[in-house]
Amino acid sequence: MVGSLVATALWAMVPAYVPNNAAVLAGGGRPIDGGRMLGDSRLLGDGKTWRGTAVGTLVGVALALVLNAINAPVSASLAFSLPTFPIHAALGLALGAMLGDIGASFIKRRSGRERGAAFPGLDQLDFVVGALLLAFVVAPDWFLATFTLPVLAVIFVITPVLHVGTNIIAYALGVKNEPW
Ligand code: CTP
Ligand code: MG
Repeated sequence: MVGSLVATALWAMVPAYVPNNAAVLAGGGRPIDGGRMLGDSRLLGDGKTWRGTAVGTLVGVALALVLNAINAPVSASLAFSLPTFPIHAALGLALGAMLGDIGASFIKRRSGRERGAAFPGLDQLDFVVGALLLAFVVAPDWFLATFTLPVLAVIFVITPVLHVGTNIIAYALGVKNEPW
């Protein structure tokens, strides 16, 4: 029961979890804000780029398609049905995750935090909230069938743990500047 909830939560969130990590690897190039300022701070900062956002979104959608392709055998071996991703739901999760992270940078700059500064809580959940919101907007029926309240509860517990863990690993490997 708990196992199936955790498996469903992890499976459903792969297209939302991976884009930010892909963006770390793909980042660089033109910042989305083009260097523009808002007051004394950058609108978003150099850490939010067109390339990182595009690659992250595409990687998330591609992973959803891979999961769809292997869904049947994996579901059969687990003896319960894992969710499949309609293409618009996949796009909602992946793009929503990137937009949530971009929104968090906007808030960080407004609160005087420089690029790379930590904002505990926001850093761990911005992309989850963005992904879930956009998925709900573009695929409401799929969202309500997939993200039941118990699944959502599991997501909000395990996501910060996964996020902290992967970022520490990325920092240790030298691909990320800060361990958050
Ligand atoms: N990145 C990107 N485009 C995005 C998100 C991330 O190019 N939309 C890349 C950038 O190279 C960024 C790195 O991934 O520096 C790490 O992402 P993140 O921690 O979100 O950015 P920070 O540099 O820490 O900046 P911020 O303080 O705005 O979060
Ligand atoms: Mg950061």
